[in-house]
Amino acid sequence: MQFYIPTKVFIEDDCVASHKDIFKTYGKRAFIVTGRHSSKINGSLDDVTTILDEYAIPYEIFSDVEENPSVETVEKAAEQGKAFQADFVIGIGGGSPLDAAKAIALLINNPEETGEALTVLKDIKALPVLAVPTTCGTGSEVTGVSVLTYHKKQTKGSIPYRIYPEIALVDGKYLLSAKKSIVVSTSIDALCHSLESYLHAKADSYNRMFSSYGLRLWGEIKDLLHSPGPLDLATAQKLMMVSTVAGMAIAHTGTSLPHAMSYRVTYKLGLAHGKACGLFLAAYLREYAKNDPDLVNEALSFLGFDDLDLFDAFIRSLMGPITVSEEDLTSFADTFLANDSSKLGTYPYEISPDAIREIFRTSFTLA
Ligand SMILES: [Fe+2]
Repeated sequence: MQFYIPTKVFIEDDCVASHKDIFKTYGKRAFIVTGRHSSKINGSLDDVTTILDEYAIPYEIFSDVEENPSVETVEKAAEQGKAFQADFVIGIGGGSPLDAAKAIALLINNPEETGEALTVLKDIKALPVLAVPTTCGTGSEVTGVSVLTYHKKQTKGSIPYRIYPEIALVDGKYLLSAKKSIVVSTSIDALCHSLESYLHAKADSYNRMFSSYGLRLWGEIKDLLHSPGPLDLATAQKLMMVSTVAGMAIAHTGTSLPHAMSYRVTYKLGLAHGKACGLFLAAYLREYAKNDPDLVNEALSFLGFDDLDLFDAFIRSLMGPITVSEEDLTSFADTFLANDSSKLGTYPYEISPDAIREIFRTSFTLA
């Protein structure tokens, strides 16, 4: 067994302002990496820049991180960060800006490197990264993982480096202005993290401590995801807690089949990450239950479901149908089996190609 999370984590109201001295600790020139809109709307960017102004810390902002950020975007941002001579990076936003911030911090600190360095592990280090998450799914603020889009391979994948943020400042208030669809999609991502870690081939007592707690918390808030009204602050804080705790779980195991199956689906259909992973959950659990029904039932009981059919119906009603053509469906399964079979090592049992095809087939609605 092992336990390793080197990130100092704060989860509380007004977290950024309460711990503003931290921003003086990691460098003298800050490079802020964020998305195009949400950090301006939810107040997180203002919270950070107010502190940097107060301490007279020069900063530049790169706000062009797209959903599922590409290696090309990371290279472009790194060029700006190098020119600015940044010596630490602040990622603000959902999983995309946080994952991009880690890769950008690596390239800024190694100016001779290009995006190629993000495909092969080298003995290089990143600048310090501070993370301010504003969605409730990624867990990137407590993991070393950075998932990028590789257009040359027409898929997404993790860079071969583990870059943990030095600091995570987690505050549910940034969720209050998010669209409900984003809250739902990202919280399904956190659900996937908890379940996939709980059932992972590398699962042990440490990661299950986090993943079982994440599942219980998710069970407490699941019905609120269905309600049309806005979030209240207490629910938002709980959603953030689920996300961070689930991130701590996958920091120890990584994710498993639903994530591995999602990457080409996201690339091809442009589906949000959480939905693309959640799409496969029920079929994955059905396959898993053929080998260990008790473990699956235990995980479902943490979530407050008496059986898998109820869970399946709940997730489908939360996400709505995801339709795909027969041709695309066959292509997803074929491509996964041809290129991604290394991901099968995350699953603790033998699984046949037919069983993989069955997971793909039963997860989608055919157009
Ligand atoms: Fe994820």
